[in-house]
Amino acid sequence: MSDHSRDHDLPDVVMPTCPASKVLKGQKALVTGAGSGIGKAVAIALGQAGADVVVNYVRGRQGADEVAAKIAKNGSRAYSHLADVADEDQVTGMFQKMIAEWGTIDILINNAGLQQDAPFDEMTLAQWNKVINVNLTGQFLCAREAVREFKRRGVVEKVSCAAGKIICISSVHEVIPWAGHVNYAASKGGVMLMMKSIAQEVAPYRIRVNSIAPGAIRTPINTDAWQNPQAYEALMTLVPYKRIGEPEDIGRAAVWLASDYADYVNGTSLFIDGGMTLYPGFTTGG
Ligand code: BGC
Repeated sequence: MSDHSRDHDLPDVVMPTCPASKVLKGQKALVTGAGSGIGKAVAIALGQAGADVVVNYVRGRQGADEVAAKIAKNGSRAYSHLADVADEDQVTGMFQKMIAEWGTIDILINNAGLQQDAPFDEMTLAQWNKVINVNLTGQFLCAREAVREFKRRGVVEKVSCAAGKIICISSVHEVIPWAGHVNYAASKGGVMLMMKSIAQEVAPYRIRVNSIAPGAIRTPINTDAWQNPQAYEALMTLVPYKRIGEPEDIGRAAVWLASDYADYVNGTSLFIDGGMTLYPGFTTGG
């Protein structure tokens, strides 16, 4: 009989024994773009689950400060940090400060992102570059810093069975083409294969890298799609579950995906979209 015991010196997997509500206790998280929208909900949810949270923002200091204050009120540590994720020096500075303050990082939520929409033949190079720089290059820069620290530190058994977790906030548009949003869809398609390639490369260090791919979530990025009844009705033709997603739908999933309950989940995209990727046009057609 073959011996299936491990051929490396990583520690055994020990599942969490703390209450599920505090499943991230003792972990330190960085959420980019956490002053509003999905990032805000994820930061608050991680805080509620016991994690200390750095609330990154690039605009809207007040919003970020409020998120940090809310997390601190719930009993975790938190502070806001101004940095443009597309700027290498600002990203390294943000990680250096976090490591100086709290010693390390356990969870990176690569969330910061934006849209700059235009018909394809009218799209400027500036619009293309802006979206690629923030949505894709920004995730690369932050993931690289996180992996450097995860590899340096390794697994700390009493904190987590993994040496670190990265969650890339992608989109259903990592697989659904999107006319009028070519830069955005290209950035999210890029996030998908970047995430999977990093996951494949760093898995042996027991670092988990995954994506959450949200559908239509009620946030400032897509106000036009839900703020009046006609727009909402049109949006619902794309959502079999017939409701818009709330930022908290993403927050809850991020807590689970970052936790040791998801320890064997690596290199995958978790679609949270009310069925938007189920080809809703085929409900009656085809
Ligand atoms: C976009 C939203 C859009 C949703 C579904 C998201 O990634 O940012 O504007 O409503 O995808 O199409």
